[in-house]
Amino acid sequence: MYQERREKLLATLPENSITILMSGKAAYNIGDERHPFDVDRSFFYYTGLDNENLVLMFVKTARMNQTILFIEPFDPVQAKWVGGKILADEAREISGIKDVRYVDSLKDTIAMYINHYGKLNQFTLCGELSKQEYDQPWPVADLFNEIRRYNPDVQIRNIAANTTRMRLVKDADEIEKMRKAISVTNAGIKAMMQASRDYIWENELEAYFDFVLKSEQTEHAFHTICAGGKNATVLHYGKNNQQTKPGDLVLVDLGAAYKYYNADISRTFPVSGKFTDRQREIYEIVLRANKMVMEVVRPGMTTRDLNNKVIEFYQQELPKIGLLQDGKTVRDYYWHGVSHHLGLETHDVSLFDEPLQPGNVITDEPGLYLEDEGIGVRIEDDIMITEDGCICLSENIMKEVDEIEAFMQNR
Ligand code: GLY
Ligand code: MN
Ligand code: MN
Repeated sequence: MYQERREKLLATLPENSITILMSGKAAYNIGDERHPFDVDRSFFYYTGLDNENLVLMFVKTARMNQTILFIEPFDPVQAKWVGGKILADEAREISGIKDVRYVDSLKDTIAMYINHYGKLNQFTLCGELSKQEYDQPWPVADLFNEIRRYNPDVQIRNIAANTTRMRLVKDADEIEKMRKAISVTNAGIKAMMQASRDYIWENELEAYFDFVLKSEQTEHAFHTICAGGKNATVLHYGKNNQQTKPGDLVLVDLGAAYKYYNADISRTFPVSGKFTDRQREIYEIVLRANKMVMEVVRPGMTTRDLNNKVIEFYQQELPKIGLLQDGKTVRDYYWHGVSHHLGLETHDVSLFDEPLQPGNVITDEPGLYLEDEGIGVRIEDDIMITEDGCICLSENIMKEVDEIEAFMQNR
């Protein structure tokens, strides 16, 4: 699987190039303590390896393609303190890469290829150079800039679009892992609803979700949002440290990650077990918007088209429940987008305004947030685009009002 992916990527790379992908390094937190290491997802996608400080290199010339993996040498002292590093044979076994070397030879290896091939031809260094923030350091860019100081003719090319195009279309193995993450998320949400009672604290509710995730050998896809009442009208509320009030709606936005594949689900339920008439009215509109997205989505549409459909729908529906008065617009009650791609990252890699195609997995997450009334509702499912529409991967997670009330009644 990893080999197939590497070959597909290699075919898109320019001739006379070296391509570097790095697994990354954990950042320092405080003193001598590091943040937990989290592997670069493209590196993982092409190798199946999740260890720190590994480098994947492709060399492509007119006459040959070469794939080399660089690992860290074994360190017996470190092995005693924090455990051993990945060994060459293990790395070969998991990734299928035969040529495994040590990272301390990385720069000399690059210099050798540039000397060999770059003197006669244009030579290109390729890497993923995208980053959310302009001034964040990106290790591969530092390496390339250093190389260019000694080889000013070398070109640098960003191949983030090449890797993104591949990662956007999920294969059967990826879908299966996402289904597992979604199924554990379902169990976690049920545990929260089961435990829900008047005056429960948000973080206690959150702990029921955490217990299920750990019990199922999964991780968190992202920081859980567990927001009661008015807190649910803050989009990325993450403190989860308030006590709920009887009658509050609780909005949970959470997900398990299984083998790095993420679920991203939102559900909203009444902490005491029953919706008020007003809560139900608002909830039903969000639920209809959520279902409408699944009905209209087709390959060729963009996530922006989907969001426009939701805004149009709200435009019609909100006046019927007394909203959109005094110059208020839909965007006063719903200001995010309805979809993003999902996969190895929760907000997965994507290309701006790229039409959807079969095999894409996106979220479907309309919401309504009424700060004055202390009501926030979001319903988020994970859907896979097919030839003629979509399949809802999270269809088993309850969201009908009657179903939720019946479940809470019997808890
Ligand atoms: N959990 C973040 C999102 O739904 O996009
Ligand atoms: Mn979410
Ligand atoms: Mn989402």
